[in-house]
Formats: sequence, structure tokens, C-alpha cells
Amino acid sequence: MMDKKQLKIITFNDALQQIKDGMVIGIGSGSTIELLIPQLAEKIKSEQLNITGVCTSNKTAYIAKNHGIKVIEVNDATSIDVAIDGADEVDPNLNLIKGGGGALFREKVIDAMANKFVVLVDESKMVDYLGETFKLPVEVDKFNWLLVAKKIQAYGNLEVTRRMVDDVPFITDNGNYILDVVLHNDINSSDFHEYLIHLIGVLETGYFIDIADQVIVGTQNGVKVINK
Ligand code: A5P
Repeated sequence: MMDKKQLKIITFNDALQQIKDGMVIGIGSGSTIELLIPQLAEKIKSEQLNITGVCTSNKTAYIAKNHGIKVIEVNDATSIDVAIDGADEVDPNLNLIKGGGGALFREKVIDAMANKFVVLVDESKMVDYLGETFKLPVEVDKFNWLLVAKKIQAYGNLEVTRRMVDDVPFITDNGNYILDVVLHNDINSSDFHEYLIHLIGVLETGYFIDIADQVIVGTQNGVKVINK
């Protein structure tokens, strides 16, 4: 029986194989990617590859640089060949919920910009519908966060909480709050995303609809590669 960490690690080979000399790669956020970065750095070094990274969070950029990976700002990237990131949920159509680490905005910018977006998950992340096991993170401006939370609640009597860490509000890399929304199975992801994204004060939602090109799943029976 492999634990979740091992199930994440067994997905790395299929992801790293796709990294070729000269590529600009999007580097995601979260515990999976933090395990991947040392292996990526090792591959770059041993194969003497010219790889440039574009990072989805300050933390990832810090770790990548510490491992000797060349990192540039997203504004200095004209294109991204492959982005590799984790996810909190994956539905049967490869739509995702992301933002468990609060990095959803920069993740969406980079993952959506990439020519190919590859998602690495353990099998516990595979769900029948988005919201089955995880709340939807929504990044909102501090100024009117409570008003936005009430408007989200009003969509369907939804439970909304502001994310806290040790009794203080969690702050994103962009200086905003995260609201976590409990979903239910009769919510249409695209409709709800449209509602949220037009509320003044919402920066982005954790719905990643039609962005992933490939999901690599670590299962007890081995690695499963699902292509869009
Ligand atoms: C970060 O904001 C998230 O979107 C992560 O990509 C997601 O939470 C996956 O995290 P783990 O790799 O820690 O499971």
C-alpha cells in the first residue's frame, strides 16, 4: 500500500519525460510540486538542459531558485511550453478545483498560458463532480470581502468562510483574502464561475475549466495517464 506522498512521486517520470532542452516551463505550487522540483533540478543538471521556469507562487520561485533553476517573471515570458501543477480535485472531464495553497490566480495565469498543462495528482483527488470533497477557493480583495462573501452565499444558500491560518486571515501573494465555498452537486461549474467572476472584488476562482490537457494519476495499481 503506497501512501499519498508515494502516489504523487510515481507520477513524476511521465511528467519529467516531457521536459526538453530549450523549453520554458510553468512550475506549479503545492506539496506535489515541492517534491518534484529537486528531481527537475537534477534532470536539468545531469542532462545539461537549458530550461527556464515561470513560477506560480513566491514560494515555488524561492524553492526553484534555491535548486539552481533559472526563473523569469511571467511578463518576460512570450510563451510557456509545458506547465506542471497539482490540483485539489479532478472531475471526469479533467476540470479541476485548485487553490488549496491559495496560489490559484498565478496558477491560472501560467497553467492557461502553457501550450500543454499537465496535472499531477494521487487518486484521492479524482471525483465525480467538483466540490465533492473540497471547497472552492475564491480570491477576493480585502476591501469589500464580507460583502462579496454575502453575495456568494446568496447564490444558493452556500456556506462561505474566509480562510484563516492560526487565527489570522490567510493572505495571498497578491495581498488578497481567500473565501472557501462549500459546493453541492447541482451547481453548474461554468455558471457559478461566471456569477463569481463578475462580482466586484473577485480576482479569480479556483475553477479550472477546460484548461488541463493531461492528468497523471498515481494509483495503487500504478500510473494512469489521462489525455483530454
Ligand atoms: C495551490 O494553490 C493548489 O492549487 C495546489 O496546486 C493544490 O492544492 C495541490 O496541492 P498538493 O500538491 O499539495 O496536493
